[in-house]
Amino acid sequence: MKIQKLSKHFVFLLFFSCLLQACKSEETVTPIPKPIGTINPDTIVKKDSTGLRNVSPFPFGAAINISTLKSSTIYRSTVIREFNSLTPENVMKMKNISLGRGQYFWDDADYLIAFAQANKIRVHGHTLVWYNSTPAWITNFTGTTDDWKAILHEYILAVVGRYKGKIQSWDVLNEALNDDGTFRDCVWLQHIGIGYIDLCYQYAHEADPNVLLFYNDYGTEYSTAKRTALNNLVADLKSRNVPIDGIGLQMHININRPNSTIQTAITTAAQTGLKIHISEFDVDVNYQKLATLTYNTTLAAAQKDKYKITTKAFFDLPASQRYGFTFWGVYDSQSWLSTATVPDWPLPFDNDFNKKDAYYGILEGLK
Ligand code: XIL
Repeated sequence: MKIQKLSKHFVFLLFFSCLLQACKSEETVTPIPKPIGTINPDTIVKKDSTGLRNVSPFPFGAAINISTLKSSTIYRSTVIREFNSLTPENVMKMKNISLGRGQYFWDDADYLIAFAQANKIRVHGHTLVWYNSTPAWITNFTGTTDDWKAILHEYILAVVGRYKGKIQSWDVLNEALNDDGTFRDCVWLQHIGIGYIDLCYQYAHEADPNVLLFYNDYGTEYSTAKRTALNNLVADLKSRNVPIDGIGLQMHININRPNSTIQTAITTAAQTGLKIHISEFDVDVNYQKLATLTYNTTLAAAQKDKYKITTKAFFDLPASQRYGFTFWGVYDSQSWLSTATVPDWPLPFDNDFNKKDAYYGILEGLK
């Protein structure tokens, strides 16, 4: 009887240890990945505490104001925590860099690059050629077509060459189209002819064959003519093997922009097969420029909806075409839309760097 009881015990123990063994061997078959630091579920760019590991479906970025970057600790820490791409708001524009033929001001652009490198953040260069950023010495320049080509060549080679390997992509040409789809007048068009567009891309490619080259513009969410002209321009460049990799849709919209037009702008540009960058996103609340307007929950909700649907429309693109989503600034009062007399609230952070409803709209758009 005693022996029988003992053997029952033994069988039970044997069964239990086999079960344990089975569990153990299963554990070795499918190892559980070790977490790398803590990932914050409540941020749009999910960085971990050690390696800045990003698990967002695409990069998020912001246009960076150089003087705030230099002076504000909370601005810097917000940028480091929240973004994995950045665009210089002004310091890489021709008017800021080009002081004269062969004379350049690099300090601010270098500072921004150093900040990005130290914090493992991608830099999107903005912008090599923009009609609205032409230094006086170029406007006043006189010379033959070849002389004009030479100054364009020198400038692009100097800038793209300096940041070769440090900048991942450039807005080569900014706003070269009018809203009616015709080519915008500028000194380059006047002195070189329409071929200046090809040259901008060819020179940039010559300076850094690995950098991604973008065309950047606004307004395709409200102008059908511009939407068509943009795709025609890209097709034309591609047909002549001019190197172009992406389209930047600035997306300066306002709280009343119909959702369908935002979606159409994104899907139409994507038909080119190029990478798409939502490059200067902001949602103007006070687009009627009322000095007395105050921000309230109704406006915040309308704005949140635009953040959400634009994020979602972008997220719906094939992964290979989602280059990134960049806000034109970080916090409201610093936006180019906010002035001393006319307030505005276009960005995801308020002036105390708190996340606004708009920010949570982005998170909802990513679900
Ligand atoms: C704006 C900047 O935000 C301002 O600070 C500056 O005074 C003018 O340029 N489209 C562009 C951006 O491509 O470069 C512009 O940035 C906004 C419109």
